[in-house]
Amino acid sequence: MKMWGGRFRQPLDPDFEHWQSSFGFDRRLVTYELAASRAHARALKDAGVLSWDESTAILQGLEEIAAQAAGSSAFLEDAEAEDVHHFVQKQLASLIGDVAYKLHSARSRNEQIAVDLRLYVRASIDQLENDLAGWVEALLQCAEQAQDAVMPSYTHLQRAEPVLVAHYLLAYVEMFLRDADRLADCRKRLNLCPLGSGAVAGATITLDRRALAADLEFSGPTANSIDATSDRDFALEFVFTLSVIGLHLSRWAEEMILFSSEEYHFVQLPEAYSTGSSAMPQKKNPDLLELTRGKAARVIGAANTLMILTKGLPLAYNKDLQETQEPLFDAVATVSGVLRLASAWMMAAEFDYGRMRDAAESGYMNAWAAATYLVRRGVPSSVAQEQIGKAVQLCLEKGCPLEGLSLEELRSMNPAFDEDFYSCLRLESVLAIHDVVGGTAPGRVRQAVVEARRRTEAIREQTHAHA
Ligand code: ARG
Repeated sequence: MKMWGGRFRQPLDPDFEHWQSSFGFDRRLVTYELAASRAHARALKDAGVLSWDESTAILQGLEEIAAQAAGSSAFLEDAEAEDVHHFVQKQLASLIGDVAYKLHSARSRNEQIAVDLRLYVRASIDQLENDLAGWVEALLQCAEQAQDAVMPSYTHLQRAEPVLVAHYLLAYVEMFLRDADRLADCRKRLNLCPLGSGAVAGATITLDRRALAADLEFSGPTANSIDATSDRDFALEFVFTLSVIGLHLSRWAEEMILFSSEEYHFVQLPEAYSTGSSAMPQKKNPDLLELTRGKAARVIGAANTLMILTKGLPLAYNKDLQETQEPLFDAVATVSGVLRLASAWMMAAEFDYGRMRDAAESGYMNAWAAATYLVRRGVPSSVAQEQIGKAVQLCLEKGCPLEGLSLEELRSMNPAFDEDFYSCLRLESVLAIHDVVGGTAPGRVRQAVVEARRRTEAIREQTHAHA
């Protein structure tokens, strides 16, 4: 039996019927549909619409469907089901007979899909928080392994200042911890229950909406039935956050691709996550990284789809909203898959610390520290900047580092130079001057790793508490 049809004289065109069906993708919501249906059955019983016997039969039937759905994916093949709501109703009717049709009392699919999607996004956030924690842990493990290894940092992709490798990796940790925060924030806002909103104006029978919300572990009922049945902001915010994660992963992938090239040679591509060329026998290609960069595009595309889809929709429910589902599901699967593989890649990659140190020691990256030496001797910073710039120019002509200039040469530029200038040019001295919270002095970086570990554990605890 269809969920509608009494006012129709003609059957649906078969092509149209097949084309508008969403069961091919919304069947993945079946667990949430069943949970929400159980809550609704209990609310109907409390409202006196279902007898104890009827609600027991319905609840048992729903349990049976859940067991069968968990048992075999073939159970979820049904060419006639219009959507997951219709599927559950059909299955329930075949198990317990006509009493099954009482479950839809005072309920609309418009609120059902709104609640199913909120439950799906909530569960996906919990899963992604865990995936993110695993990825951050992989970055932190690499940061710990790197100890006091150094590398150049870049601005404009030109060598800028030496930094600890751990400090560089912690930059990514910050990005992904912010993403974890965004997910948690999105979870808070979405955790309201639309049940009892009906099709648009509210349920036609008074239901205890607080009990419905509590039953499904929402923090309360949504405040407006028109908004609740048409709102997909939670999906939009979530997919936006996923696209920021994809974008961060893409930046990381791009840098690893650069760093693995012969030109940098800072990292060895792990063979288990690289491929060869069918033509050029010497090649080892960074496919995992390239696909990571590429997949960001599809997640950003999903976020765009949701925005474009909803931007001109009149209130309240419109069937267009069915189109929010596939991009949403795809974005979750894509980002979750990339996070897990990126973690494995990071654990398998080998950094060439010697090569990184060599790069950090050349390119006049101690020039700012040299100017600071003069500033500490009372020279105005713009004058110091200019004079060290001149010193670099002289070095470039002579083909030597700043350390290669004699004290006489230096003093001819500024008498404030002294013998201790040379020790301030050493790599370790340059690192040590950045001794501020968030800076690259080794002690600060060690503290930052500990602090990042603490924040990551908090994410694990929080997702554990939700499970
Ligand atoms: N499959 C629909 C969707 O995903 C379910 C809601 C249908 N509601 C309706 N009034 N046709 O949006």
